[in-house]
Formats: sequence, structure tokens, C-alpha cells
Amino acid sequence: MIITVDGPAAAGKGTLSQKLADKYNLAYFDTGMIYRAVGLMMLQNSFDLNDVASAENMAAQLSFSKMLELSKDKDFRSAVGGKAASVVSSYSGVRARLLDMQRNFAKNPLFADGKPASGVIYDGRDTGTVVCPHADVKFFITASPEVRAQRRYDEFLQRGGDMSFQEVLKDVIARDERDANRKDAPMIPAEDAILLDTSAMSIDEVFQKAVAFIEEKLK
Ligand code: C5P
Repeated sequence: MIITVDGPAAAGKGTLSQKLADKYNLAYFDTGMIYRAVGLMMLQNSFDLNDVASAENMAAQLSFSKMLELSKDKDFRSAVGGKAASVVSSYSGVRARLLDMQRNFAKNPLFADGKPASGVIYDGRDTGTVVCPHADVKFFITASPEVRAQRRYDEFLQRGGDMSFQEVLKDVIARDERDANRKDAPMIPAEDAILLDTSAMSIDEVFQKAVAFIEEKLK
């Protein structure tokens, strides 16, 4: 089984995906990690984020194991890392070079401990439209920018970050704009995606709703 969970930053995709992966015994691919890895490679090499050719070159060099190694870096999930990921992900050449890595994962899905899985859950922006248009079940998860900024802000506080709520909100809105307006693979729901607005829902409510849709689909 292949499930895709797309939507804007901090809409609750990661939490839902992990809970669904546990319930249905699926491998989990957080596709934002590949763009974060390329963004971090740009920062580590002191390349200008506007240098498209270097970003394409970094994307061409990225492997799954390199991505996992980079994910241990302190900037991988920081605001600086997130901004770099958002900028490099707007380049068509970068996206094209990272497509095979994402698609190949479904051909031979593995859990984090290397054991084979019977399917995959993808989390991203374009996994139901571009990466895996033939997925069995597709979700598009949203929430208002203010609710998402509050969730991101709480995460930053827990990790000792020093951004203000207004700065986080500005960043969320800027990322939404880049994701929605890029020429290639803009963030839009797949025609057959189930839309879930999580603004006023608890994690458990979102999970129960998603499970109900999947069970219906599996009948
Ligand atoms: O989901 P996350 O915040 O980790 O993603 C980092 C960045 O990568 C996002 O801002 C988004 O622009 C980009 N991204 C993307 N396509 C995906 C996943 C993430 O463009 N499938």
C-alpha cells in the first residue's frame, strides 16, 4: 500500500504520517528531508542559495545515506536550514534530480532498521501529484497560517530557539508562497486527495478521520 500526505509546513503531516506508518506497518519517507539535505549542503559549502547550478550539482550528489548523515546536523531542522530547503526546492532542476530517489523508495521500501516493509507512506508537498500519482490513498492536510505558526513556534521554544511568534508566522507565510507559486510541482492537492483542515482538530481526531478514510478505501 502507498499513502501520500501532502500539505504546507506544520500542518501536522509528520505526526499523522508516523501514526499511520505504525498502524499499517509501512515505511515512512519524509521527503522534506531531501530538500533540507540539499539546502544544508549549500550552506556547508558556502554557496549562495541563489546559485541554481550549484544547488543542482548538490542534488545530483545526494544519496539516501548522505541524507541520513546530514539529518544529524544541528541546522538540519533549524530555521536557517528550513529557509535553505525552501529556496532550493523551488528550482526545477533540483526537483528533477531528486525524483528517482523518492520513487525508488516505493520499489524496495525499508524500515529505519533496514527490514523490508510492505508499503510506504510519503510526506511532502507533491508526493500525491508528482512523486507517486498512483498512490492508493492520498491526503492533503492544511491548517490556518496562524495555527501552523503557533505549532512551529512551540517546537522552536522546546528546542531552545530564539525566534518570535511574528518571525515564525512571517516565515510560514513566505514558505507557503514559495511552495504554492513555484513553476514546477507547486503545492496543490491531487484531484483524488482527501482534504483535512486540522486547525480545530486534535492529533487523535485527525488520525481517526484518516484511518476511517483508509478503511473505507481498503474495503
Ligand atoms: O516539510 P519540510 O518543512 O521539512 O520541508 C522543507 C522544505 O522542502 C519545504 O519548505 C518545501 O519547500 C520543500 N519540500 C518540497 N517538496 C516536498 C517536500 C518538501 O518542495 N515534497
